[in-house]
Amino acid sequence: MLKQVYIYRAFERFWHWMQAFLIFFLMLTGFEIHGSFRFFGYYNAVQYHNIAAFAFIILIAFAIFWHLSTGEWRQYMPTSENIIAQARYYITGIFQNAPHPTKKTVLSKLNPIQKLVYLGLKLLVIPVMVLSGLLFMFYRYPSKSGITGLNIDSLESIAIFHTAGAFILVSFVITHLYLITTGHTITSNLNAMITGYEELEVDEVEVIEVRNNEIKTESIQ
Ligand code: HEM
Repeated sequence: MLKQVYIYRAFERFWHWMQAFLIFFLMLTGFEIHGSFRFFGYYNAVQYHNIAAFAFIILIAFAIFWHLSTGEWRQYMPTSENIIAQARYYITGIFQNAPHPTKKTVLSKLNPIQKLVYLGLKLLVIPVMVLSGLLFMFYRYPSKSGITGLNIDSLESIAIFHTAGAFILVSFVITHLYLITTGHTITSNLNAMITGYEELEVDEVEVIEVRNNEIKTESIQ
């Protein structure tokens, strides 16, 4: 049976939307610095990029704390279960109105491909962006010379990593925006990330668990 389930908590939604805004803004200012177009003007773009980068680092610190303290980091543990079915769904099933192969629950919100992609972003792409970005900043501004300890004698290698990461993030954002529209209805994923609630297929036992949790939460409040 279908039931409205509280799937995304308040901090999770705040983190998601702040991250979306900051990555979009870093993309906009970053590609202006790169020379792809002119919007804020180069000087302003650099200032805005630096401010957004610090805000992003602070947000990441809070998000790490939240993931560790709630145990939500477990959502990203990779699994091979259902991975082929999920890939087949994305390649063909999705265009034939086939049912979603992975059931979404509060304890397992991500399908196996999402788990891998998000884990890759968290452990690889975002750390590369933060590290190369900080090197970019401190290589150029306070020291104004090569970082001899790291044997970096030009900005080029840093710029290659930072720009490559930026292109990966752009491809992720485009795919993510498309996949948002492929839930039960075209807006159900979006609504869930706004309100926290999503209509999910649950069985009798889960309904009882959800009700018990609601009763527990009400009695605490
Ligand atoms: C905490 C994270 C980040 C930090 C600390 C950071 C820092 C920097 C710095 C200092 C620069 C050089 C500015 C200059 O030339 O004066 C830069 C350039 C750039 N950033 Fe970031 N950035 C971060 C995240 C991002 C993200 C998330 C994106 C895109 C999705 C991005 C895209 C770019 C691009 C495209 C450039 C131009 C690279 C080039 O052409 O050499 N940055 N970043």
